[in-house]
Amino acid sequence: MLLLSVFQMFILTGDVTSQEICSEYCSPDPNNGVKCDGVTGKCLYGCMTGFGGSKCSIQCCGACNSCSVSPTTSAVVCDSCNDGFYLDSGECYPCSRTCATKLSSSLPVCRPTDGRCQFACQTGYYGNMCDTMCSRNCRNDICNPTTGACTDGCILPVLTGSMCQQACSSGCLNRECDQSGACVFSGCQQGFWGSDCSQKCSPNCVIPSNQLDHVCDQTNATCLNGCVNNTYWGSNCSTSCNNNCVNKKCFFETGTCLDGCIEGYEGSQCTEKWTTNNTNTIIVGSAIGGAVLLIIVIIVACCICKKCRK
Ligand SMILES: *[C@@H]1O[C@H](CO)[C@@H](O)[C@H](O)[C@H]1NC(C)=O
Ligand SMILES: *[C@@H]1O[C@H](CO)[C@@H](O)[C@H](O)[C@H]1NC(C)=O
Ligand SMILES: *[C@@H]1O[C@H](CO)[C@@H](O)[C@H](O)[C@H]1NC(C)=O
Repeated sequence: MLLLSVFQMFILTGDVTSQEICSEYCSPDPNNGVKCDGVTGKCLYGCMTGFGGSKCSIQCCGACNSCSVSPTTSAVVCDSCNDGFYLDSGECYPCSRTCATKLSSSLPVCRPTDGRCQFACQTGYYGNMCDTMCSRNCRNDICNPTTGACTDGCILPVLTGSMCQQACSSGCLNRECDQSGACVFSGCQQGFWGSDCSQKCSPNCVIPSNQLDHVCDQTNATCLNGCVNNTYWGSNCSTSCNNNCVNKKCFFETGTCLDGCIEGYEGSQCTEKWTTNNTNTIIVGSAIGGAVLLIIVIIVACCICKKCRK
């Protein structure tokens, strides 16, 4: 093989000795084995891994697989790095150990140009370089590799928020809620409503004596035990009973006065006034009724008298 390539070189360059000046780290032409310019010694097909410079006479450092000499500073700068490393300002750095590995290897994989993890992160980490730990409040230490949001829920039912770092609303019974803040596990404390139980029931709702019973409906605030003192009505007891109700008391569902109307008013909510027409009608009605009755009495009396005379 060696003889063959030397022979080929001889044929192509016409001068075997010219190839003897080539650095052993010049890469050969795959077809004929020629490595460098026989006169200048410049490698014609690049350098072998780990070497650089025009004559491949520079040994690159560490994980660098090709390097060159900076024309301005004369320093050796790396141009590309081995697998598992990335380039930053002419030097090679290992990919973050928390970058996910390729299936076929155990090396963490990152973008060779800037170190960003290429296949997301190892469990428990997030961020571009996977160098931030998931919140300790994430269940199983699992979080979204990009946002850090806990994807398996929180370690305790009293924690909420994307990273499980907030406390549930104080309106939640036992202060327990899901990750969105909804008090789904135990419902609301007495006197509160809303999905996160942050709203108070109307102060006009009757508060039940049993502390476990709710004051108002947890989804729509409807008072569940009627209105205080029977003096309000409406689904959340926001309307006062009509002033014309006796004692200002009414049924909490309908507003109908509980004990009738005060003098001069009528209707279920005592909103209608007796009109003067009403009074006249009553007077005229009674007058006519009285007259009719009198006539009947007279007629009957006459009849009786006639019978007596016979
Ligand atoms: C409030 O919700 C309860 C239970 O879901 C329902 O029975 C009631 O009709 C609702 N009230 C109103 C005013 O929407
Ligand atoms: C209910 O009645 C009591 C006693 O009369 C009174 O102290 C209280 O203020 C009333 N509550 C409301 C909300 O009107
Ligand atoms: C009570 O009901 C009224 C009318 O239905 C509504 O405007 C008000 O927002 C309700 N209040 C609560 C606390 O739900």
